[in-house]
Amino acid sequence: MTLDDVRAKYLGFLKDRGHTIIPSSSLVPQNDPTTLFTGSGMQPMIPYLLGKDHPEGKRIVDSQKAFRTGDIEEVGDNRHTTFFEMLGNWSLGDYFKKEQLPWFFEFLTDELKLDPKRLYVTVFIGDEKYNLPRDTDSVEIWKELFAKKGINAKDVLIGSEAQGYEVGMQDGRIFYYDAKKNWWSRAGTPENMPAGEPGGPDSEVFYDFGTPHDPKWGTECHPNCDCGRFVEIGNSVFMQYIKQQDGSFALLPKQNVDFGGGLERLVMAATQSPDIIAVCHAPILAHLEAASGKKYGSNDADTKAFRIIADHMKAAVFLIADGVLPSKSDQGYFVRRLIRRSVQYSDKLGITENNFAKVVRPIADMYKDAYPEVSEKVEAIEKAIAEEEDQFRTTLARGIKELARFTGQNSLSAQDAYQLVTTYGFPLELVIEEAGERGIKQIDMEGLKELLKAHQDLSRAGSEQKFKGGLADTSEATTRLHTAHHLLLKALQTVLGPHVKQRGSNITQERLRIDFSHGEKMTDEQKAEVERIVNEKIKEDIPMIRSEMAKDDAEKLGAEHEFGAKYPERVSVYSLGPKEATEASPMHAQAFSIEFCGGPHVTHTGELAISSNPSTPLGAKFKILKEEAVSAGVRRIRAVLQ
Ligand code: ALA
Repeated sequence: MTLDDVRAKYLGFLKDRGHTIIPSSSLVPQNDPTTLFTGSGMQPMIPYLLGKDHPEGKRIVDSQKAFRTGDIEEVGDNRHTTFFEMLGNWSLGDYFKKEQLPWFFEFLTDELKLDPKRLYVTVFIGDEKYNLPRDTDSVEIWKELFAKKGINAKDVLIGSEAQGYEVGMQDGRIFYYDAKKNWWSRAGTPENMPAGEPGGPDSEVFYDFGTPHDPKWGTECHPNCDCGRFVEIGNSVFMQYIKQQDGSFALLPKQNVDFGGGLERLVMAATQSPDIIAVCHAPILAHLEAASGKKYGSNDADTKAFRIIADHMKAAVFLIADGVLPSKSDQGYFVRRLIRRSVQYSDKLGITENNFAKVVRPIADMYKDAYPEVSEKVEAIEKAIAEEEDQFRTTLARGIKELARFTGQNSLSAQDAYQLVTTYGFPLELVIEEAGERGIKQIDMEGLKELLKAHQDLSRAGSEQKFKGGLADTSEATTRLHTAHHLLLKALQTVLGPHVKQRGSNITQERLRIDFSHGEKMTDEQKAEVERIVNEKIKEDIPMIRSEMAKDDAEKLGAEHEFGAKYPERVSVYSLGPKEATEASPMHAQAFSIEFCGGPHVTHTGELAISSNPSTPLGAKFKILKEEAVSAGVRRIRAVLQ
C-alpha cells in the first residue's frame, strides 16, 4: 500500500458516509495571522468549528498538506517529519463519538487490514480544575469495538506521560492520560488556551510495531513512550468546548469532531514498516544512495543524515511549490534552513557538489496525481533550490578555507571564531565540528558568546528561534522594539486581563506590531494606561536577562509562549527585571515579564529611550499609533519608540 492507495481509500470511505471531499489548502495560511504555516488539517476549518456554516455541508473530508517547524530537531528518528499529509474528517455539529470512533476502527481493521491486536488507544482522564469530565463515553465505545474482534480491552489510568514511564502497560488496551496528551486545541492544554479558543478531549490510536523498548526513555514502555514502539496514527478530537473570558469552559453551540490522521504513518502501519522515510521517501533515498555511493540503513549516523535530507528536501519542494522562496525573513527563512541543513548533512554522506535540484523531479512524480502543482513548477523549484544550495556551499567552502589557516593550533580564540561566524557566515556548529577535525581541541566559547551578545547577534549564530518572534532583522532599532514588545504584552495583560495572549508579531526598524487575543476595542484610557506602564518600565532601566532551562520549568514559571508553536525540551527565555537580577543570578519569580524567546534584546530597558533624533538623544517614548481588529477576538496594535 502506498500514499496514493491509503489516501484514496480514506477519502472514499468517508465519502461513502456522506462526506464532501475538499482539496488541500496551501501550506501558507490565508488570512490567519496566528501562524506561519499550516500545521494541521483543522487550521483552515476554525471558523466552521466555531459555528459558521460550511458551504460544503456538515460532513467534510480532506487530505491536507502540513508543515511543522517545531519538529525540525526531531527528524532523524523512525517517525518524525516536518512535512506530512494529515487526513482529516469533520463533523460540523453533526455526528459525534459513537459514529467517529467505530468508523475509524473499521477503516483501520477492514480497509487497511491492520491487526486489531496491534492497536492501542488513549483517552482524556478529565480535569477537575476546569470541571472537564473524564471521557468514559469513548472508553465504552472502544471496549465494544475491541470485543467484536474478540479482544478484552482493559482500561488503565495513567495520568501524565512521566507516570506512564513508571506504571507501564499493566496489560491495558485503553489508557487515560492528562490534558497534555489527550486534549487538543491550537494552543495546547486548557490552561494555555486564550479566551475564544475552541478545544476538546481527544482519543488517539497507536500502532504497536513490536520493536523492543529502549530504557533510555524511561523504565517502562507505554503508548506515549518515545522509544518508537508505538506510533500514533490518528486522533479524534471532540471539539465541543470554548474557553470563556473568565477562564472557565462552556460548550460550543455545536458539538464537532476534528479527526486528524498522519497519512505517512498509516502507510507505515499498513506495510508494517517502522521507518517512515523508507516507506514514504523512497525515490529521494534512491537518489541519495546513487549520489553518495552509500547504502541507507548501514550505520546510525548515515541513516540520520539520509533521513534529515529526505524529509527536508520534500518539505522544501512543497513549500516552494506553494510560493515560499528561500529568503531571510518569515516563511522563507525556514525554506533556507531546510536546504542549508540538507547541505550540511549531505557533506557527512560525502556529497560535496550541487545536487539537490535532482530530487525535485522524483518528488513531483510521486505526487503527480495528488498534488499536480509540484509537477507544474518543477523547473522553478529546481532553480530556487540550486541557487540556495550553490550560495551556501560557497559560504561553506570559504569558511573551511579560512579555518584551514588555524590548522596546527591547539585552540581557536573567541575573536577568530567570531570572525568565522559573522564575516564568513559559517554556522557555529560547523565551526566546532570542522575545528575538531583539524585537531583544534579548544574554542573559547565563553568569549565567543560574549562577543556575539555584545553585538546583540546571539541568535544569528545558529539559533532556531531567530525569526520566530517576527523580527525583520537584528539591527539595534529592531532589537529595541523587540524588547518594547515584551513590555507591551505584559502591560496589555495588566490592563486588559490575563486572557491576553500573543497571536502574532512583526517588528521592523520603524515600528512593532502585535496581534493579541482580546474581544473588544480598547478605550483611550486603556491605551494611555498601557503606554504609561511601558514608559515607566523604560525609565526604571530594568535588566533584560536571558537564561536557558527545561521547557517544563519555563512553563511552571508561567513564561509566555508564541501561540500554537511547539518548543524543544530546552528553551531560551528572557525575563525583564527585577532591578537586582543579573545574568549570573536571574530572579525569574520576581520578573516583570518572562517569555520563551530567542532574542535578541537590549541589556537594559533604559536603552529604549535612545532616540533617533540627535537633539534629544534620550527622549524616546513608547507610543501606540493604532489599535484595530484583525479577526474575531484578535486585536492588532502598532507602536513606536519616538
Ligand atoms: N487537530 C488534531 C491534530 O492535529 C486532529 O492532531
